[in-house]
Amino acid sequence: MVKKTIVLLPGDGIGPEVTAAAARILADCAKEWGHRFELIEQPIGGAAIDAAGSPLPETTMESALGADAVLLGAVGGPKWDALPVGRRPETGLLELRRRLGLFVNLRPVRLRPALGRLSPLRADRHRGVDLEIVRELSGGIYFGRRGHHGQGGDESAFDTEAYSVKEIERVARFAFERSASRRGRLHSVDKANVLETSQLWRRTVDRLSGEYSSVELRHLYVDNGAMQLVLDPAQFDVILTSNMFGDILSDEAAALAGSIGLIPSASLGSGPALYEPIHGSAPQLAGKDSACPIGAILSAAILLRESFGLAKEADWIERSVDRALATGARTPDLATSGERAIGLAAMTEAIRREMAHSLQPAEGYGWGV
Ligand code: NAD
Ligand code: IPM
Ligand code: MN
Repeated sequence: MVKKTIVLLPGDGIGPEVTAAAARILADCAKEWGHRFELIEQPIGGAAIDAAGSPLPETTMESALGADAVLLGAVGGPKWDALPVGRRPETGLLELRRRLGLFVNLRPVRLRPALGRLSPLRADRHRGVDLEIVRELSGGIYFGRRGHHGQGGDESAFDTEAYSVKEIERVARFAFERSASRRGRLHSVDKANVLETSQLWRRTVDRLSGEYSSVELRHLYVDNGAMQLVLDPAQFDVILTSNMFGDILSDEAAALAGSIGLIPSASLGSGPALYEPIHGSAPQLAGKDSACPIGAILSAAILLRESFGLAKEADWIERSVDRALATGARTPDLATSGERAIGLAAMTEAIRREMAHSLQPAEGYGWGV
């Protein structure tokens, strides 16, 4: 039995719907396994701008700092798009990541068995898509010096990318260790033919590789890396890359698995870890009960495994997602022609049903635990 506090940050657009689905799964998990999860909901993003005048109110930040783990939906939307960069909903999320000291963003991308038909790639190419992107999360161009000068025809703007050896080493070590525990292959993706930061990145990763003899390291330029992801995704095990390249490549990789709605993430570092689906607030789907909740639900599963050490519970949720997909449950983004689509709530119920079924003693779960 564990007793933990989880701070829920629903955010904007489909964020509240997908976090409510994940919260329901966590409640089922607590009930079945005798755990106590206290869920504390706090505003972030546009919702927090509207309620408290800031995309990351201090009360939200303090709650997150005091939590055992944080689960977030998504932030942003057209209502706040005219705001300057520093006051937008997205800034709340970036500040949260920075202040929690989260320098690793782990994004696992796997083609789930029931969804082969959904991949945009031919079967001979998508077979074996099972990779993890390790994205640096608290440095790079997202957090560099920026500004703008002048007005009208003379206006200019700049953003800068900076990385220190220490920042590269800590995320690279995580990626080496992750590869060592998987298939032992690490691709480091950079733009070292153009950027100073990438040259430092490549030298630093090369130097560390001597300490990880079981890992085979390769370097790729990001333009080629983006192409290799669609040509031969099965060659990738772990991909290590910078904040911005990781953001871009992870949406591309998500498409290989069928939908961005499926992909979870874990952000790890010195403080409480943050778990969130990689998708955004999908404003056009908000309030329509048609977003896919699986990315948020799988984020909750990873939370249980990584932050609370509850591996059996996490496996149980992940297997239940696969079984629900195997029965044909499809939100609209997962439905190919001829397949009937169901809503977010019905998909959540389909997963909960599989969770309940697999607690039968014959399958060796739950009873007596
Ligand atoms: P998006 O991820 O919201 O949407 C991209 C596409 O994917 C859309 O077609 C959308 O309908 C689809 N999609 C996304 N999530 C889905 C789900 N769960 N189920 C089914 N389909 C899904 O990205 P965008 O449109 O570029 O951005 C919209 C807003 O979200 C912007 O304000 C952006 O800044 C913000 N955003 C937030 C996060 C975050 O909070 N982590 C991530 C990305 C974008
Ligand atoms: C993501 C998002 C965020 C990012 C935005 C909303 C700040 O795109 O989590 O992938 O760029 O990190
Ligand atoms: Mn993104």
